[in-house]
Amino acid sequence: MGLAHTVAAVPETGPLIGHRGVAARAPENTLASLTLAAALGLTWVEFDVRLSRDGHPVLFHDDRLGRTTDGRGRVADHDLAALRRLDAGKRFPPPYRGERIPTLVEAIELLVELGIGANVEIKPDPERETETAQAVMATLARCWPETLPAPIVSSFRPRALAVASAASPACHYALLVDAVPKDWHRRLAVLGATALHCNARRLTGRQAAEIADQGVPLRAYTVNSARMARRLFAWGVAAVFTDDPVPLAAAFGSRRD
Ligand code: G3P
Ligand code: MG
Repeated sequence: MGLAHTVAAVPETGPLIGHRGVAARAPENTLASLTLAAALGLTWVEFDVRLSRDGHPVLFHDDRLGRTTDGRGRVADHDLAALRRLDAGKRFPPPYRGERIPTLVEAIELLVELGIGANVEIKPDPERETETAQAVMATLARCWPETLPAPIVSSFRPRALAVASAASPACHYALLVDAVPKDWHRRLAVLGATALHCNARRLTGRQAAEIADQGVPLRAYTVNSARMARRLFAWGVAAVFTDDPVPLAAAFGSRRD
C-alpha cells in the first residue's frame, strides 16, 4: 500500500468521469454512488473530501450538512463519530436511505474492489486549507494501492493544491476554476499542477483550443447532456464530469439527442 513512485504522464481517465460518484442516480459522495458508477461502466469517479472536526477526511461536498443529510450545522463542527450516524441518502428512495458518509479510507478500499480510478477534490474550510491537504495526502500516501492508476488531486483553493503537490510527486494535480483565467498557464506552474478543470458553461472554444495546443489536459464540469459533451469534445476537452453517464452515451455513437 502507498502511492507508487512513478506516474503516467497523463492519466487515462476515459471521456466520462462520474461526478460525486453518479450524483443524479445515487446519493452523492457515498459508497453506493461509487459502486453504481462502476456498474454503469465508468472507469473514473470524482468525489469531494473535507475534514471532520477531529481531522478525518470524509467524502462530502457542502460545508453544511442540511442539503444532503438529516444533520444540521457545519461538517467541521462534528466529529467523525457523529457524522457516521447521519443519513446521507435522505433525498433518495430505498435502498439508498441510510447511506452513510464515508471516510476517504473506506472510499479507497472500495475503489480497489471496483478497480476504478479517482479524482480526489480537496474541499477545505477556509481556515483549514493546509490541514485538509496534508490529511488527504497522508491518507493517499498510506492507503492508495499500486494496483490503481495514480489519483488526480484537484482543488479550487490554491494553497490546498500547493500543499498537496509539494507532498508527493506520485499523483496528478489539477487546478479547479470556474472561468479559465488569462494566466492559467502560470498558475498551473506555480501550484505544481499539470491539468485544468473548469466549468463547462464558462469555457469558450478559443480557450479550449489554446489549452489543448499546449498539451495540457482540460476537463470540464458538470456535463449532463450529450449535446454539450459533443461540443466540448470537438473543442479538445479531454474528459467531462457527469452526474449521469446514461444520456451521454449518445455523445459517442450516431444517435442524436
Ligand atoms: O471537480 C469537479 C467539480 O466537482 C467541481 O465542482 O462544486 O461540484 O465540487 P463541485
Ligand atoms: Mg467536486
